[in-house]
Formats: sequence, C-alpha cells, structure tokens
Amino acid sequence: MPRKDLLDIASLERGEIEHLLDQAIPFKELFTRSVKKVPALKGKSVLMLFYEASTRTHSSFEVAAKRLSADVTNFDVAHSSITKGESVRETIETLQAMRSDFIIVRHSRAGLPGTIARLTRASVINAGDGAHAHPTQALLDAFTIKEKFPAPTGKRVLLVGDILHSRVARSTSTILQKIGVEVAFLGPGSLVPKIGPENIRRFTDYQEAMAWAPDFVYLLRVQMERQDVQYFPSLREYHRLYGITEARLADIRQRGLYIMHPGPVNRGVELCDAVMDYERSLINDQVENGIAVRMAVLYWLKPGAKEE
Ligand code: CP
Repeated sequence: MPRKDLLDIASLERGEIEHLLDQAIPFKELFTRSVKKVPALKGKSVLMLFYEASTRTHSSFEVAAKRLSADVTNFDVAHSSITKGESVRETIETLQAMRSDFIIVRHSRAGLPGTIARLTRASVINAGDGAHAHPTQALLDAFTIKEKFPAPTGKRVLLVGDILHSRVARSTSTILQKIGVEVAFLGPGSLVPKIGPENIRRFTDYQEAMAWAPDFVYLLRVQMERQDVQYFPSLREYHRLYGITEARLADIRQRGLYIMHPGPVNRGVELCDAVMDYERSLINDQVENGIAVRMAVLYWLKPGAKEE
C-alpha cells in the first residue's frame, strides 16, 4: 500500500524498510557519475520547514530533492511571521495554499510532524521531532551497517550515551531490531531508561558492554539542550567513563570494530579527535548515505495517498 508520510520507524513494516534500503543503492551509485541528477521528481515541490537547527539532515534532504529534479523551497523560520506569534497551524494552512508535494519538518515538539500530516495532502517527512523519532537517520544507519554486512542478522550494535533524550537511539534501535540486528545500550544510569524493549541489554559499565562483543560502537551526541537537570557530574567525567579515549580507540582498532555517530560530534566528550581518522569510523559514510536514503524516501512516498 502506498504511504503518504514518513513519521517514524515503528509503523514501517520490515518489507518497506528493505525496499527503501534496496532502492537507496542505485541512488548512491549515481554519486560517482558526472551527471548526478535524475528526472524522477521533475515538477514536484519540496518545502523544508526546520524549526530546529540542522546541518546534515537539512542539507542532505535539499541535495536529495535536487538530485531528483524537484524544486526546493527553504522556509526561513527565523524571518517568518512565526516570530510575530503565528501558530504552527496557521503556518501550515498558509503553506498549504502553495501546494507543496512534500513538507520536510523538524521541530522540538514530539508528534508535530504527525499533526501537520493530518492537516495537509502533502507528504510529510519527519526530520526529527523532539526526543521522539528521526526515521531517515535510522534508515541511513541501517544502510551504512548493511554496506558492511549485507546480511546483518545477529550483528551487534552498542548504542552509547544519552539514550533518554535521543530520537536517534529510539529510531535506530527500532530499525536495527526490525532487520535482525542485536542492540544494547551503554551510558550513565540516569540516561539509560530502564523501561522500553526488554530484548535490549542495558549496561552502565564500559568494560561489561565491550564483553558483550559488539560489531559497531554507535556514539550518541550528549544533548545538553534537552537536559533540564544534570544527569552526570561533568563532561570530563562522562568522557572518562563512556567516551572513546585514545586508549579505548586502540582496543577498538585491535578488535576491528566500526564506530558510528549521527553528528554533530562533541569532540572531547563522546570521542577524542583521533576517532575522526580511524579507518573504521563510518561517520562520513553516514553523511553520504543520508543523501541516498533520503532520495529513496522522496521517490517512495506518494503525496495525497490515503493513509489507513
Ligand atoms: N544527525 C543529525 O540529525 O544531524 P543534524 O542535526 O546536523 O541534522
């Protein structure tokens, strides 16, 4: 059944996920050609509505849409009537009159993309809503893991850090479990929620987590902007207990593990500078793959389709 919107990973079926990941492969192959553009979405319009800051998601959606030949409009929240108190509903109703085919939205409020999806016939793509979901990040993470292990069933991913506030942890752990990858969480007890899926191992000790033998160590950004109280003594202490220090990097290299991070990176907190040059760091692959999976998502969704 065609989908109008992409709001989260939880509602996607495994077949849909596999379809999107497969579809991203030929789109990535385009990147090595001299002409990187295809006419798939010629005549379609894409509206970028980012209420929160973004480098990777915003720019890769824009590149993805342009490589599919869509017209892209960047809605400038900082200079819009939102600064005069215009509500989200009024903004959407105004923008609806412009008949965009796709609206890509990032907002600090969990669930807002779903609300917008109900107000418009445009296909709405959630580019991150509060601590709820970041579905295209999850898709690009799964794609990046499948590039290393095309049949990833039984592979292990250790997500490290601020699980509590992380929409990436929520969406990426969901997609990985759907494609058969085992997931564990590591972080301070205050940032690793005890509730949630029972089949996810929880660790608060780095050595115990490494004894679980992960194939990928996925570092999450410490999200200072979402922490209303202090969850650990200091950033220095966090780095000492959970960060990838030079000594830990040497051990990770010896074990042949891959390192991932959604960005932006807090250097000296989640990782030391040397990680950026580590030969099995996939951080730049994640960024590149983000364009391919976002092309696949734009190509797959059907504006105006009826959702059940
Ligand atoms: N990974 C991610 O969402 O990065 P941005 O905040 O730069 O978009």
